[in-house]
Amino acid sequence: MAENSDAPLKLSVIGCGYLGAVHAASMAELGHEVVGIEVDVAKAESLAAGRVPFFEPGFEELLRRSLDSGRLSFASDMADARGAAVHFVCVGTPQRRGEYAADLTYVEAATASLIEVLGPGELVVGKSTVPVGTAARLAEQVAARVPGAALAWNPEFLREGFAVADTLHPDRLVYGVPSLSGADTAVDAEKVLDTVYARIVADGTPKVVTDYATAEMVKTAANSFLATKISFINAMAELCEATGADVKQLADAIGHDDRIGRKFLNAGLGFGGGCLPKDIRAFMARAGELGADQALTFLREVDNINMRRRIRMVELARQVCDDSLLGKRIAVLGAAFKPDSDDIRDSPALNVAAQLQLQGANVRVTDPQALPNVRRHWSQLDCVDTPEEAAEGADAVLLLTEWKQYRELDPGSFGKVVRTRRVLDGRNALDREAWESAGWTYRALGRRNV
Ligand code: UGA
Repeated sequence: MAENSDAPLKLSVIGCGYLGAVHAASMAELGHEVVGIEVDVAKAESLAAGRVPFFEPGFEELLRRSLDSGRLSFASDMADARGAAVHFVCVGTPQRRGEYAADLTYVEAATASLIEVLGPGELVVGKSTVPVGTAARLAEQVAARVPGAALAWNPEFLREGFAVADTLHPDRLVYGVPSLSGADTAVDAEKVLDTVYARIVADGTPKVVTDYATAEMVKTAANSFLATKISFINAMAELCEATGADVKQLADAIGHDDRIGRKFLNAGLGFGGGCLPKDIRAFMARAGELGADQALTFLREVDNINMRRRIRMVELARQVCDDSLLGKRIAVLGAAFKPDSDDIRDSPALNVAAQLQLQGANVRVTDPQALPNVRRHWSQLDCVDTPEEAAEGADAVLLLTEWKQYRELDPGSFGKVVRTRRVLDGRNALDREAWESAGWTYRALGRRNV
């Protein structure tokens, strides 16, 4: 174990998906010697060669720098994790098929196989998003099988698109440690984690040291709050549509109150991705198991409001297309669940595109980064490389993911390729005035029609 709090450590990172790969390279950047363990051999080889299997701004540079330093390596065999002082568990916890609950198969399998190579004095650190109670259960397994080893829970709050900055400069550090969780271990988990994050701690990053249950809940509570904030403004958008009010001005006005804040008050198509939707559902499922389901029934409404926005978008498209989608040409700009990502998991944009197509429209989808994933998983959708190709002869253009290059389209020249200048701004991201001045009919969720 490190003698002083700046000494580099030997670390392993189990699971090199989005979270794990970024964590592993970032820890090497902080000076540690890191081995990333990834069971998918092709993925491990790709990362070892400096090729990033997903789109994340700034990550490829970080990965190459860490590989070049000689401090980062990847392997597929858990045996390579042997001897590390700290083992981070970063595997996925997707939604269970046909249920709300989280699927813990990967966390359990990773921990079980890690235990086989774990030594006394070593620390297992869970980073995956798990239902409250998981850490205590895993800590018992670790203690029973490897006396002298310990487990901590250290949730991650990184956002796709900002993953590198969020990992190296997080808003806060949260440690769920054994000493505050009724577990008796020889390892001082707080001290070890302070050594791992020495540079981040030295930056003055706020730190919360707590028990396992609180650490686990911080993560799901944070994502639930963010989802609630988005659905709140989208509920206001529904009311704005009913009253003729304007949700963007409403958000600006209430956002000036710094108790409320303007961030995460962008009304539109709502939230998607691999985290917010599944995390609020898993949280509800866990509350039910604990007999506290009433506390989270509001999250069901948060989920409902969110899903209704997608249906409303399809209705709005039908409305502007003279009440029929049959045979209409629709351009869909954006397929990723948000800009600066190629992630299409539970993407609101693709959900809308698919519904339009099922209802008889002729849909063309474009996205700067996500098309390979769309082609792989949504082969029924017609994909094209540029917004101009998507919009050729279109009866309506739908902006569904607010990539910068779409926000910056010149409505005048872009208008030359369409059949009818109708734009539906699913993210309230376009300069309405500019589009209207160029002769477009502009419609958006929660906005006044003029
Ligand atoms: C989210 C959280 O923001 C991270 O803090 C967390 O670590 C991560 O989940 C996780 O659990 O791993 P992420 O899924 O990358 O991060 O994306 P967000 O930036 O939170 O956006 C989520 C969705 O909400 C997107 O579809 C976005 O378009 C939508 N959104 C966001 C809105 O509809 N309106 C807004 O005002 C903001």
